[in-house]
Amino acid sequence: TTVDLTEEDYQLGGFANYMHKEIHEQPEAVRRAVLGRLDERFSTARLGGLHLDARELRSIQSVKVLGCGSAYYAGEIGANLIEEWARIPADAEPASEFRYRNPVIAPDALYIAVSQSGETKDTLAAVQELKRKGGRVIGVVNAPGSAIARECDSGVFLHAGPEVSVASTKAVTNMAVCFAMLGLLLGRVRDLSVSRGGGIVSALDALPQRIGEVLALEDRIAGVAERFSWAVRMFFVGRVWYWPAAREGAQKLKEISYIHAEAYQAAELKHGPLALIDGGMPSVVLVADDELLAKNISTLEQIKARGGPVIAVTSADLPDGLADEVIRLPRSHPELDPIVFTIALQLFAYHLAVGLGKEIDKPRNLAKSVTVE
Ligand code: AGP
Repeated sequence: TTVDLTEEDYQLGGFANYMHKEIHEQPEAVRRAVLGRLDERFSTARLGGLHLDARELRSIQSVKVLGCGSAYYAGEIGANLIEEWARIPADAEPASEFRYRNPVIAPDALYIAVSQSGETKDTLAAVQELKRKGGRVIGVVNAPGSAIARECDSGVFLHAGPEVSVASTKAVTNMAVCFAMLGLLLGRVRDLSVSRGGGIVSALDALPQRIGEVLALEDRIAGVAERFSWAVRMFFVGRVWYWPAAREGAQKLKEISYIHAEAYQAAELKHGPLALIDGGMPSVVLVADDELLAKNISTLEQIKARGGPVIAVTSADLPDGLADEVIRLPRSHPELDPIVFTIALQLFAYHLAVGLGKEIDKPRNLAKSVTVE
């Protein structure tokens, strides 16, 4: 990797490991990501590194985000935000799949390569394949000077600072924040209203505070993690906005605790996975205080009826008896709250793994930057 670590980055500053330190750096990391990039006057974002004027931004007809692992999940959050705010069809795909399936390259599409290290081989290869075919590709990258940053036409840097822990935390959060600013910008050159844009600007500005509130729940989350340290497998359940958050929660848990964790979209449970639910299969269910609340309550009931232990991570007031444990999160913005949920799940995975005595920063079999196939 090309990330140059300063002496300060190597200081753990009282934290037991880098993952814990980086989880706690997130309010500051998000502050850096939005610094100078939020335009309150026009309720939009200013992304100087994009080099695309309003006309070019308006000519984009679809968006495809490409990344690997957690960067791909952050890309899913990003695609959701872009499609919702800019009303441009957007999706995310693992870069490795994209590069090998001979995809159609649309001339009016915007391709976005997302990567913390900027060195991930499959993501770099997807960018090179895109460029060879004349696709327009930008980077959402943390490491300046990295291969992907150099190969892309233009882009948005994450400004997360160097990330040492193999399990990515602050980079994933900043990816989502950068996608939010991109979605805001793409939306505001189209039909996203000033007032809705203004709401997004304020929510992004307040996000470091919201993240601080989640970090303040650490003892509570650690307590829940401890009570589930017997688990050998777990489901993470979410829908729509919370689906990528569920995937990322499962990813963090499996990486550092080696517990088998799988994410499912809530409504998909009844098409097969419900067969696995019993007293030995806990489910972490993400329940937002939104228009899908009633649907999510019925998901909780379905799991409970089959004897499955439930941890509800929620911004809603849930009826009693639906969950064995409730992690109550602040509610601030309907589309940005999944970022806050993701951070609660980082703490959950972290404390489960610590309780099990696992090696946190260097999980077995994994590398920080995957520069091989
Ligand atoms: C995240 O916790 C993982 N270690 C991994 O999935 C990572 O996000 C992936 O390898 C992509 O890395 P990149 O962001 O450096 O491209």
